[in-house]
Amino acid sequence: MSYGRFNNPIQATLTGILDIFRKQKLSGNLQEDDRLDGKVCLVTGSNSGLGFAIAAEMARRGASLIMACRSGIPEAGEKLMSLTGSDAIEMVPLDLTKPESIAQCCQNMTERGIHLDIIVCNAGVAPPGSRRTDSGQDEIFMVNYLSKFIVLNRLLRNGTIRNETFAKNSSPDQIPRIIFISSDSHQNASPIDFEEFGEYRPYGIRKAMNNYSYYKLVMNTFATELSRRLNPAGTVNVSVNVICPGPVNSNISRHAPRWLRIILKFIFTLFFQSPDKAAKPVIYLAASEEMEGTTNHYFHMFNPKKMDAKVYDENEGRKLWEHSAALLKKFYATG
Ligand SMILES: NC(=O)c1ccc[n+]([C@@H]2O[C@H](COP(=O)([O-])OP(=O)(O)OC[C@H]3O[C@@H](n4cnc5c(N)ncnc54)[C@H](OP(=O)(O)O)[C@@H]3O)[C@@H](O)[C@H]2O)c1
Repeated sequence: MSYGRFNNPIQATLTGILDIFRKQKLSGNLQEDDRLDGKVCLVTGSNSGLGFAIAAEMARRGASLIMACRSGIPEAGEKLMSLTGSDAIEMVPLDLTKPESIAQCCQNMTERGIHLDIIVCNAGVAPPGSRRTDSGQDEIFMVNYLSKFIVLNRLLRNGTIRNETFAKNSSPDQIPRIIFISSDSHQNASPIDFEEFGEYRPYGIRKAMNNYSYYKLVMNTFATELSRRLNPAGTVNVSVNVICPGPVNSNISRHAPRWLRIILKFIFTLFFQSPDKAAKPVIYLAASEEMEGTTNHYFHMFNPKKMDAKVYDENEGRKLWEHSAALLKKFYATG
């Protein structure tokens, strides 16, 4: 069973509001001339909220953009084209609860010979309780963690993200950047429960916030292990960094009960950052020369920070990788 830093969404929301007023050390370091011309960027969940704003800013900075989304095809892409004036934007279908959709999306990119320079693992859910997917897992486990393990393993093994560890096709002058969108609520979440790992356990709204924090901790542990595996000898081959965007006025609470949605909508609108503002530190990680060749960094908005200490435990990282790979073999006959 998991526990998290916050016991309810109101507590998490108030902490988020206080965070907005903290000084953001590196906010002046993102420059207008941090461009992404010629870079191929993929953003998951970019049809709405933070993902849409990240995609828009990337397109404005010259990137060729792949919007990997479950919904909003083609409207979100058309909206982005008219907003940014870019025609280097395409949408690809990707439902992160469905292993076959993940496989198809990755296969499609590999067959077309696409090489991704930047991938932003943004899609996430904050459901008010457990929801069983067609393949028998809890939705939050799949979307907020396991799908990222599957997608990145496939793209790295196929060489769609160039690397030395899994594909031996790295390019010395192009260090790909992988960015995980996390949440500072992962701090002090419970250790990974390997006994119940990946098992569906029904829960309601009281456990929902705990589980959100817990799965961000699981994801951050994976990001840290991935960084270790991709960059074994101290040289950075693929950059893997994690960021909490701070509180964002998005649609994240759309599945909450009506009474809570009304309260949260009010608070979000009044106090939370716009998605455009929250996207800026993510763009800093994606585009800034200062971040070139860096790995295993964590940012809370524009502030470099440490993640929860458990995230850096090598034993935990190795166990997480092994349990995830075993689960894939068992359920999806894929490694
Ligand atoms: N909002 C905040 O205050 C806040 C704070 C810290 C971190 N974050 C993180 O920021 C990220 C973006 O969230 P947001 O605030 O922008 O919320 P949002 O507007 O609800 O966006 C979430 C995105 O994830 C996508 N998604 C959900 N389930 C999916 C699935 N099964 N397959 C593919 N895509 C799926 C959604 O697609 P659909 O439209 O199809 O559902 C949507 O595009 C999340 O990782 C979240 O945890 C948010």
